[in-house]
Amino acid sequence: MADSYTHGHHPSVLRAHEWRTVENSAAYVVSELHPGSAVLDVGAGPGTITVDIARRVAPGPVLGIDASADVVARATEFAASEGVANVSFAVEDAYALDYPDAAFDIVHAHQVLQHLARPVDALREFRRVAGGGIVAARDVDYEGVLWYPLIPALAEWHDVYLRVHRLVAGDPAAGRKLKAWAREAGFAEVASSASLWLFESDEERAWWGESWAERALESSFAEHAVGLGVTDRTGLERISSGWHEWAAAPDGWFLMPHGEIVARG
Ligand SMILES: C[S@@+](CC[C@H](N)C(=O)[O-])C[C@H]1O[C@@H](n2cnc3c(N)ncnc32)[C@H](O)[C@@H]1O
Repeated sequence: MADSYTHGHHPSVLRAHEWRTVENSAAYVVSELHPGSAVLDVGAGPGTITVDIARRVAPGPVLGIDASADVVARATEFAASEGVANVSFAVEDAYALDYPDAAFDIVHAHQVLQHLARPVDALREFRRVAGGGIVAARDVDYEGVLWYPLIPALAEWHDVYLRVHRLVAGDPAAGRKLKAWAREAGFAEVASSASLWLFESDEERAWWGESWAERALESSFAEHAVGLGVTDRTGLERISSGWHEWAAAPDGWFLMPHGEIVARG
């Protein structure tokens, strides 16, 4: 069985994920994306990064897999609407991939290992299907996020988020641990780097802040937070108001540090 996924696929979550491209989420691996490469994108979600990868490696085959059938259907529609033919999507579990050893040149996973209870086991499985190729992964470090203004409800959000994430599955501080996990999984070479997302313009604050204002009340995160007894409906309403306040603050600034690895061997 796949682990539970903290955020789920509520429209407020998908709006946040559909902004993602190779440029803003996988720049560290661009130099490895060559025409003709066979790529597996694990935990592809709505598939915007996957489709971007497919354009870059065409005519190489790109496969996006995800544990959620709903999001696989959405990604398939997105690829068709973009007219990208060398990409397909399937429901699969990251821990037990249905492909032979060395089936891919590149195995890519963006914001996935943080949600897995056994990230090292998953990396071992990625290593198996990558064979002599590479495994590329990037995860945020939610313990290291920074923001301004110091709205009390955002400090409450941070505390609730970290606890919910740990209780549901995985590790919100994955970013800083990717290198250690890859070494434990047995890779001979692990190149490690880091990059940031900064949300601060009026448009970025409206998109990110309003997405979280809605997620706090309506997504799987909200259900888990109450169901696990981490907070109650009143707490979620405070958090949602805090995100509205942040989105409306002209000085608003939110920084997310990410760890990245390119592992081989
Ligand atoms: C944060 S989303 C990232 C989506 C996409 N990579 C992106 O960055 O836009 C994590 C995705 O991993 C998927 N996922 C979680 N556990 C999984 C597992 N064991 N096997 C496959 N996919 C999984 C979730 O369903 C979700 O779509």
